[in-house]
Amino acid sequence: MQRNDRTRRLPPEVNRVLYVRNLPFNISADELYALFGKYGAVRQIRVGNGKETRGTAYVVYEDIFDAKTAVDHLSGFNVQNRYLIILYYNATRHKQKLGLKDQEAELRRMQEKHGVDGEQHPAPKK
Ligand code: ADE
Repeated sequence: MQRNDRTRRLPPEVNRVLYVRNLPFNISADELYALFGKYGAVRQIRVGNGKETRGTAYVVYEDIFDAKTAVDHLSGFNVQNRYLIILYYNATRHKQKLGLKDQEAELRRMQEKHGVDGEQHPAPKK
């Protein structure tokens, strides 16, 4: 996808969604909003609470530059004696982590959302 003028100078991995690891298990969403909100408007935070996702969160910024500022400032930040690991969201790595069942469920959700069924259909006659 072609980047616009505003985002052209950013490294390609930079995006508005951050994947945060090594969080204390007892950190609240409010504390995360306060911490990440220092660097710009946060659209959404999802804190992992499953067996595999505990200690991780996704943080979505409104603006890509704020996401980059947060990564630059909060990587290695100490919270309750833990050092935050902050990565840009990466769909491939996200999928590798999901089990096959989860991947299939995600596919169904996307098919429903976009009104497609995954089958090939002939092109409409002109
Ligand atoms: N799982 C492991 N690394 C990831 C990343 N960078 N983004 C999303 N999920 C991940």
